[in-house]
This record gives sequence, C-alpha cells and structure tokens, in this order.
Amino acid sequence: MKLRRLLKWTTKIFAGIFVALLIAGFIGYWGSTNECDQNTTAPANPMRAVRFCEYGVVTIADVEKPAPKDNQVLIKVRTASLNFIDVSLIQGPWIGRLFFGLRKPRDPQVGRDIAGEVEAVGKDVTQFKPGDKVFGLARGSLAGYACASERALVILPANVTFEQAASIPLAGLTALQGLRKGNIQSGQKVLINGATGGVGTFAVQIAKSFGADVTAVCSTRNVELVRSIGADRVIDYTKEDFTRGEQRYDMIFDNVCNHSVAERRHVLNPKGTCVLVGLGGIGLSSSQAVWRIARNLTASAFSSFGDQKFVNYITTVNRDDLALLGDLIGSGKVTPVIERTCKFDDTPETLRILNQGHARGKTVVTIE
Ligand SMILES: NC(=O)c1ccc[n+]([C@@H]2O[C@H](COP(=O)([O-])OP(=O)(O)OC[C@H]3O[C@@H](n4cnc5c(N)ncnc54)[C@H](OP(=O)(O)O)[C@@H]3O)[C@@H](O)[C@H]2O)c1
Repeated sequence: MKLRRLLKWTTKIFAGIFVALLIAGFIGYWGSTNECDQNTTAPANPMRAVRFCEYGVVTIADVEKPAPKDNQVLIKVRTASLNFIDVSLIQGPWIGRLFFGLRKPRDPQVGRDIAGEVEAVGKDVTQFKPGDKVFGLARGSLAGYACASERALVILPANVTFEQAASIPLAGLTALQGLRKGNIQSGQKVLINGATGGVGTFAVQIAKSFGADVTAVCSTRNVELVRSIGADRVIDYTKEDFTRGEQRYDMIFDNVCNHSVAERRHVLNPKGTCVLVGLGGIGLSSSQAVWRIARNLTASAFSSFGDQKFVNYITTVNRDDLALLGDLIGSGKVTPVIERTCKFDDTPETLRILNQGHARGKTVVTIE
C-alpha cells in the first residue's frame, strides 16, 4: 500500500517537473529575441557590422555606431580575427542555444579579437587616449567600430602589424594560460593534440619559447606547417594514434579531447598533467561535445586523488598576458600563423568556408 502511494507521488513529481520544463522551454524559445527585431528605424550614426540575427544566417548591416561607457574605449577597427567560437555559435548547435538563445541568438554581434585605433574614451579610462594603436578583446569586433573594456586592451608594440595583432587575443591567451595551467617548464616533453588550429599554432611556439620539447599532433596536410613553426616531432593522426606509442609526456595540451581518459593516462608520465583545452574544431556534433565535456569533468574531478592531473580552465582576459604575447611576437619568438586574410565584405563567405571545418592557424579580416 505504502509502496503504491510512493510510486504515485513520484510519478506526479516527475510529471510536474516535465510539464514545468516544457513550459519553460516554450517560453524560452518564443521569448528568445534580439536587437535585430527591435531596431526598425534607420541608425542616426550608421556603421557597417557583421550580424547573425538568425542562426546560420550572416549578413552585413548598417547599425548604430556604439558609444563608449565610462570604463570603455571606442576603437576604430582596423583588423579582427575569427575564432572557433564565432564560427560555431553562428551555426547554433543545440548545446550552444541553451546558453546563447534558444530560437534566435540573444547577441547578434560577431567577433571578439580586435586591433585598431582609439577613437574616444569613457571618462574613467586612464590608460588610453584617442589615436593610440591597440589590440585586445571586444564583443562585436567585426564592425567599423567596437567598444572594449579598458582592461581588455593593450598598446600595439611598434613592430607588430594590425593583422598579427588581431590574430593574437583569444587563441594566444588560451595557449599561454593553458600551458601555464599545466605548469610548463624548460626541458619538459609536451604533446599538443590539435596543433595546427588557432590555439595549437600559438601553443607549439609558446611551448618552444619556454624551452619545452614539443610533439605536435595534426593531419597529413599540416605536417610541414607544424615543423616550420618549431615542433620537434610530428604525429600524423591519420596514420598513428599517439596514445599507442611508447613515448611518455609531462604534459598533454589537449585541444581535441578525442581520446579516453585511460588512453591519455597511458602516455602521461606518473606525475604528468593533461590540460583540457577544448573539444576539437568545427564539425563537432552537440552529442559529441556533451560526451567530451562529461568525460573531461569526470576526469578532472577524479584526478585530484591521483598524481596524474586532468585540469580544465576557461581563458580569462588579462592585460599582462596580452602584453607578454605582444612582446613574444614583437621579438620574433612567436609568429602568428595567418592562413587567410579577407576583406570585411567577404566575411560571410569566409565564415561559410571556415564552417566546412579543419581551420589552419588564424583567419584575419581587414576593415577599411
Ligand atoms: N578553454 C578555453 O577557455 C578555450 C578558449 C578558446 C578555445 N577553446 C577551445 O580550443 C579548441 C581549439 O580552438 P581553435 O581555435 O584552435 O580551433 P580551430 O582553429 O578550429 O582548430 C581545431 C584544430 O583541431 C584539429 N583537429 C580536429 N580533429 C582532430 C583530431 N582528431 N586529432 C587531432 N587534431 C584534430 C584540427 O586540425 P586538422 O585540420 O589537422 O584536423 C584543427 O587544427 C576548441 O575546441 C575551442 O573551443 C577553449
């Protein structure tokens, strides 16, 4: 009797949760809108900007030129670059929609990496003045102008070009902070899985600049590229599985996370660290992403009990790190791998090409 009552109540609770989720999903889906739906009047101060008002649809539109807040800098954009996250958000995989808008993207702006000239500053800004050449991170950098927080920008070093500078921020910070997370030391054996994308090409060179011995994992067409940027050894993943080799590594810098935890443990030294950077490049399905995220989270939680560590991290905006990256490039220790430079008007087509997958280095957009 008691058991039947318990079952009845459990069923009711689950049905209630299901209905509540259904209603929340319905409201979330139909309530999901963005500024494209609201801005129907012509902008008073127009500028051109790349927009995705709907998932999968990229356009160039006339929008209102932004005005800097008190702690912000208004930048006349000279160059911007594209990252995995920009390309993948536009496609709107269901896992991304849970965070960025169910039916439509909440924020239709495109781009994060920016290089350009300061046009105006908010009243609390102390580090920059109009005319300064800067680079860093600004939401909506694929536009004539963009506003950035003062703490997300640094001065462009004299011998770094605008093209190089725009290629640095997100990929460079991710590589530098990830290698530090793995406690990079001179003489260590570091394996970089996914060595030829935006993050990987910076990671190979930064690891070399720390004095590490670098093994790069990439596909056949990129073998010569990773050699040219300093990798000591190259593993072509279409011919060889790095987890089955005899070599042991002090650090695996994993941009792809496509191997099981046991496989990666097998090639890590007893006190080695696997830095869980990303889930691979374009073409990853939402279910693959969920599976890899779950596996990574479990691996990092359980590794706190052992000597081999699996560590997650999220890239943070840090001016000192941006300045260090600028110096590494200015001094020639690191050279950004820019596979493609395109004109602003060609951005929708370039995003379409990048969406076919297997990015190589960085793609930079020049803005006249
Ligand atoms: N932790 C953070 O805060 C953070 C910040 C930024 C980015 N990320 C993540 O870092 C990852 C890399 O970003 P990215 O900008 O470098 O992406 P990307 O430019 O698209 O590069 C992805 C790379 O993955 C390689 N790849 C794909 N399948 C592979 C496989 N089976 N084995 C080895 N390599 C493979 C590709 O090389 P081939 O063409 O040779 O296959 C490509 O070089 C992404 O997952 C991104 O989300 C994380």
